[in-house]
Amino acid sequence: MKHLRSIAEVGTEGVLRLLDLTDTMVEVNQRPNPKVPALRGKTVCNLFYEDSTRTRLSFETAAKRLSADVMTFTVKDSSVNKGESLRDTIETVAAMGVHAFVIRHGSSGVPWQVSRWTTASIINGGDGWHAHPTQALLDAYTVRTALGRTGGLDGLHVAIVGDIRHSRVARSDVEVFTALGAEVTLVAPATLLPPVAPVPTTDDLDAVIEKLDVLYLLRMQRERMTEALVPSLREYSTRFGLTAERARRLPEHALVMHPGPMNRGVEILVEPSELPGAVITQQVANGVAVRMAVLFELLGAGRDMEIDE
Ligand code: CP
Repeated sequence: MKHLRSIAEVGTEGVLRLLDLTDTMVEVNQRPNPKVPALRGKTVCNLFYEDSTRTRLSFETAAKRLSADVMTFTVKDSSVNKGESLRDTIETVAAMGVHAFVIRHGSSGVPWQVSRWTTASIINGGDGWHAHPTQALLDAYTVRTALGRTGGLDGLHVAIVGDIRHSRVARSDVEVFTALGAEVTLVAPATLLPPVAPVPTTDDLDAVIEKLDVLYLLRMQRERMTEALVPSLREYSTRFGLTAERARRLPEHALVMHPGPMNRGVEILVEPSELPGAVITQQVANGVAVRMAVLFELLGAGRDMEIDE
């Protein structure tokens, strides 16, 4: 595996290999000193043209736990503000000796464009509305472990609820969950669905909630909305938010997930810590292990795992 720009690029086999490798990284992270020499001598550059807390910090942590060197680039204090192009930025940073770029950008397709300008591995940290493959991997890993699965997710019913249209998380999650055998339903008002949906859709959360194994609530992405697509956030919450009454109607084993950052009182109207099925914190914790697995898979070829204590 050279790049991770989408789930489709690695396929079901690649996803399963990364999830199995994540088990090993979780074990490393549970040690008193969660650091191994596996990627000593490698350099990872985090190149973030959009804001991020979880993705940027977990990639930084993941790289450091594997003993790689880390460079972090943020637009606000870079020469992009003097007019430097994306291509010149990539070529400049690559000249310093970079083995992998983690890139987040507001335009769809940028990770593919960038991979023509450097020989380094490219990891998509989120491109426009298009894809967020490491979020999808950590979500799949969280479902797999929380529901006690070891292989795929056959027979599970996942509902992804909310602003599907603007969501790179939704696109990548549909790919990963269906690749692993789960049944996915998209739940949203028609204005927040894409023109063509790859899986069944409904605008009635209450019609599906009692049959779910996973309720995945998306963030309302107000920064990506260019017109009024819902009458009001209050109306959205009434129809699509997780209220206490809906939480009671979820099956006892069902998981409640959210990629963060959460709009409290919009997508979830109860305190997440009071929901027995909420695994939102586990998603974040698993994000580090999943990203360690991705970095090792892309940069560790030919190396021993070198993860023994
Ligand atoms: N889920 C996610 O991508 O969060 P950040 O924007 O904080 O990285």
